[in-house]
Amino acid sequence: MPDKSGAAGGPSRVLLLGGTSEIGLGILAALRLSPDTEVLLAGRDEQRMAAAGKELGVRARTLPFDATALDTHQALIDQAFAGGDVDLVISAAGILAGQEILDRDPLGAGMLVETNFTGHVSTLLAAAGRMRAQGHGTIVVLSSIAAIRPRKANFVYGAAKSGLDAFGRGLADSLHGTGVNVLLVRPGFVIGRMTAGMKPAPLSTTPAAVGAAVAARLRGTSPGGLLWVPATLAPLAAAFRLLPRPLWRRLPR
Ligand SMILES: NC(=O)c1ccc[n+]([C@@H]2O[C@H](COP(=O)([O-])OP(=O)(O)OC[C@H]3O[C@@H](n4cnc5c(N)ncnc54)[C@H](OP(=O)(O)O)[C@@H]3O)[C@@H](O)[C@H]2O)c1
Repeated sequence: MPDKSGAAGGPSRVLLLGGTSEIGLGILAALRLSPDTEVLLAGRDEQRMAAAGKELGVRARTLPFDATALDTHQALIDQAFAGGDVDLVISAAGILAGQEILDRDPLGAGMLVETNFTGHVSTLLAAAGRMRAQGHGTIVVLSSIAAIRPRKANFVYGAAKSGLDAFGRGLADSLHGTGVNVLLVRPGFVIGRMTAGMKPAPLSTTPAAVGAAVAARLRGTSPGGLLWVPATLAPLAAAFRLLPRPLWRRLPR
């Protein structure tokens, strides 16, 4: 990573928002962090985060974090930065629910949006302020192919991801020239806990593959920008945008 870094060129302090996220932990595993790296795992399940921290073989600490508790986010970020500069923030909180369930549960749909969009805005603006002041760092935002065009079968999730994707792009522009990079990651269908029980979509990937692609970008000379995983999704997404709406409406999933 081309900013201030720890041993072996990696980050010294890392914050994972969504401390049990398979993709988030996949990124940390793929970075092969030095044992001296301090990893702050922020989330709801203290036990699972502690176990994940042990597995990473780093100095791990857990912080309580609820993505929907917006009024706690500034304090959480202050706590994370209280111990020193944070070189890498990964924003990985998210939930997925079928549209047929959300259609009958408007409150649940609103909470999904809070988790997948609003909570990222309040945490990442607070983190961006601290990173701008320290003059270095990278923020990884986990968007999705679902952000590209809302599908009938998944439109609340897609709307939240569209908001997050737009936020990530705007944040990148606002931080340009400050020494802080934003990497916007758009995975396709990732086979894992979030998608358990669902039939994998074409060009499916895994948390480990997303982790490897993100780690490779972070290790390079331009850690920011846009990253499709797999890369072959980019032309597919371009085609998605062009599909006439009557056809798009008929997509079964
Ligand atoms: N899986 C996919 O197919 C896919 C594809 C594209 C993008 N993404 C995005 O990638 C990100 C990570 O997904 P993943 O595959 O790693 O899923 P995951 O393993 O299910 O991780 C989701 C994380 O979000 C946390 N979370 C959920 N609600 C929360 C809340 N209210 N407060 C704090 N944390 C909360 C979960 O914590 P708990 O352990 O407490 O539940 C977990 O740490 C998400 O933003 C997801 O939308 C996923």
